[in-house]
Amino acid sequence: MDNVKKTVFSGVQPTGRITLGNYLGAIRNWSPLQDEYNCLYCVVDLHSLTVTQIPAELRKNTLDLVALYIACGINPDKSALFIQSHVHEHAELCWILDTIAYIGELNRMTQFKDKSRKHADNINMGLMNYPVLMASDILLYQTDLVPIGKDQTQHLELARDLAGRFNARYSPTFVVPEGLTFKAGGSIKSLQDPTAKMSKSDPNENAVITLFDDNDAIRRKFRRAVTDCGSEVRFGEDKAAISNLLTIYSLCSGESVADAEKRFDGVGYGVFKDSVADAVISVIEPIQQQQKRLSADKSYLEGVLKQGAEQAERIARKTLDKVYRKVGLVGRIR
Ligand code: TYM
Repeated sequence: MDNVKKTVFSGVQPTGRITLGNYLGAIRNWSPLQDEYNCLYCVVDLHSLTVTQIPAELRKNTLDLVALYIACGINPDKSALFIQSHVHEHAELCWILDTIAYIGELNRMTQFKDKSRKHADNINMGLMNYPVLMASDILLYQTDLVPIGKDQTQHLELARDLAGRFNARYSPTFVVPEGLTFKAGGSIKSLQDPTAKMSKSDPNENAVITLFDDNDAIRRKFRRAVTDCGSEVRFGEDKAAISNLLTIYSLCSGESVADAEKRFDGVGYGVFKDSVADAVISVIEPIQQQQKRLSADKSYLEGVLKQGAEQAERIARKTLDKVYRKVGLVGRIR
């Protein structure tokens, strides 16, 4: 990797239903960064274990997501594409950072509170510790920039706090990362409740477009999407549902929201919703075809993952050695 370029790191959890929100808020923004930055894109499988998983499904979802990254434009010859659990330094740095993370600050995390409510029968230590593992992912690579959706900004703040705290306690060690969120797409909303984010774990299938939905399902879900009072296709605070659909339309068609408002002036919600579905299909369909093709090529994926883990581990090892030295652990003779 190029020493002069800044470093980008990001990841998605391999929980089956990768959503249009994940795509528009995060993954879509990754490939344009590949020339300017040293990029590491990770399938964060260890994070997924914080909620109950079916092992065989988790394995399949992980490989499907690797193929999806490539189908979304991640070029393994430019970026390190790897699986989090292949680089054991993530879990090791997490332990060190745990010793400087306070229970109080983890307890306050919005996502921890939400997930504790949703998984009341399984509020495990991993769920609470999750943001520290995310901080480890980021800090391990001396990351400058982290392209994420808005829902991850609180976690990124914690990563910044932990980096600063460690640096202050033990001398400068970590780069303090910046988040990179995009105004449009940073928070795609549920199709059934425009005050909530579109979420993988939403039990209502109609609320979520996944990157694995077929065209009929996409059309059906947009037709059933809730709308606002009136019949105008207009962006505005009093039009949360239509604004969300306009954002999706604009990002998928490349047309500005203002132009879209003009195009759909007076047509009514039905016609507009079908056009949103068509725009989404035009983006998703080629990705799905490519994803399927890549998923079938196991040996290619294995090669990509081997190379990605080796690249990532070289950087991770260097940071972790430094961290172990700084905190006073005796280095292993190699
Ligand atoms: P995850 O897997 O929930 O989501 C992956 C990415 O998708 C973004 N996102 C959204 N963006 C816009 N609208 C939405 N409705 C929406 N839903 C999700 C998320 O903000 C995220 O960028 N903790 C992370 C994964 C992670 C990570 C990391 C990310 C682990 N380690 C290190 C960056 C750097 C998560 O659960 O994302």
